[in-house]
Amino acid sequence: MLDVNEIRSHFPILERTVHGKPLVYLDSGATAHKPLCVTQTVERLHNELNANIHRGVHYLSAEATLLYEQARERVRGFIGAAEREEVIFTAGATASINTVAYAWGLDNLQTGDNVVVSEMEHHSNLVPWQQIALRKGAELRVLPFDDEGRLMSERLPELLDEHTKLVAVTQASNTLGTCPDLREIIDAAHKVGALVMVDGCQGVVHGGVDVVALDCDFYAFSGHKLYAPTGVGVLYGKREILERMSPFFYGGDMVDRVSFEKTTFAPLPLKFEAGTANFIGAIALGEAIEFLGRYDAAEIAAHERGLVDYCTERLSAIEGVRIYGTTEGKCPIVSFNVEGAHHYDVGMILDKLGIAIRTGHHCAEPVMTHYGVSGMCRASFAIYNTKEEIDALVAGVERAARMLR
Ligand code: ALA
Repeated sequence: MLDVNEIRSHFPILERTVHGKPLVYLDSGATAHKPLCVTQTVERLHNELNANIHRGVHYLSAEATLLYEQARERVRGFIGAAEREEVIFTAGATASINTVAYAWGLDNLQTGDNVVVSEMEHHSNLVPWQQIALRKGAELRVLPFDDEGRLMSERLPELLDEHTKLVAVTQASNTLGTCPDLREIIDAAHKVGALVMVDGCQGVVHGGVDVVALDCDFYAFSGHKLYAPTGVGVLYGKREILERMSPFFYGGDMVDRVSFEKTTFAPLPLKFEAGTANFIGAIALGEAIEFLGRYDAAEIAAHERGLVDYCTERLSAIEGVRIYGTTEGKCPIVSFNVEGAHHYDVGMILDKLGIAIRTGHHCAEPVMTHYGVSGMCRASFAIYNTKEEIDALVAGVERAARMLR
C-alpha cells in the first residue's frame, strides 16, 4: 500500500494552518501542490542555471537546452508518444487547445463542416471550438451526458457525419469525474475522418495516458495539476498532422530563415514554440513526472479510488446532499450541493474550518445548466489526501447543512 505519510512529507504546504486550523486541501483538481523536488528545482535553476535555451553557445545556455530537451523526452515517455517531435511545450492546456483550434482550425474548417464537443467539457475544450467554428461558419454539435454523468456515446451516430472535422472530448470531467470511453469515441470519429482532441488535464494525473494506444490525434494537459509549476503545459499531436499545420504563434525560436520577403519555419517541435519557452517550468514538469514515477501507478489508483468511494459513501449519507456524477471508474472528484444552501456559503463555512474545496461553475457552465444549478461544491483529491481529511470534510458539510438550512 502507498505510504501516504511519506508522500505528504514531500509537500510542506500540507503542514500549514488556515484560520488556525490544519489545512485540509481538497482542491487539487484546480491545482495540485508541488513536491519539494519540484520547488527546489525551480529555485536551483533560477539560482544556478538561468540561461535562455536554443540560443547560445555558452555553457549555461547549452546546459539549460540539454535539460529542457531531456524534460521533453521525459514527457514523451510519460504519455507514450512515439517521437519527441510530437511533444510541444506550451503555457498550459488552454494554450495547447487554442493552438490546435487556430493553427489547425483556421486552415481546415469551412462552412458546412461541424465540430462535436461533449456536454461535459471544461470551457477550455469548448469555447475555442465554439469561437473557431463561428469564425469559419462551421456548426458546433454537442454529445450529451445523462443524469448519472455518463457520456451518451450511443448518440454519436446522429452527430458524426462526413462533415465532422473534429471531436473534442475530455479524458476525465473536472466536474463529474466521468472518464468517457475514449476508444469508442475516437474509433467512431476516425471512421468519418474526423480528428480527436482529448483534454487530459484531470485524466493524466489520475492514471496517465498512452497516446499511441489511445490513437488520439491531439492531447493536452497542464503541468500545475500534475504536481508541477503553473505556466507550463503540453500539446501532443500526431507528427503527420502537426507537420501539415501552419504555426499559430510567430516569433523567435520557431523560424528557420527570416527575410523581409519570406520566412521559413523551424521543424517540429520548435515550429509551435515561439518566444522564450518556460524552460524552467518544463524542466520542473520533468521532475514532477519523475516524482510520480517513484510510486506504483496501481497503488496510486487504488488509493485515489478508495478516497473517491469513501467520500461518495459518507457525503451521500448526509440528508439533503446531492452528488453529481456517479459513474463507475470516475476520477477522484466529487461534486455536490446541499439542499437549501448556496454552494458559496457551504464553501465559506468549510474554509473557516481550514477545508479548501472549489465552489462555482467549475469552468463548465453547460454542466450546471444540465442540472439546473448555478454552481456546485467540489472536492477533488490527489496522491497526498487521506480518509481523515474526508472525515473533516463530512463533519464540515454536516455543520454547514445544519447552519444553512
Ligand atoms: N480547471 C481547473 C478546475 O477544474 C481550474 O478547477
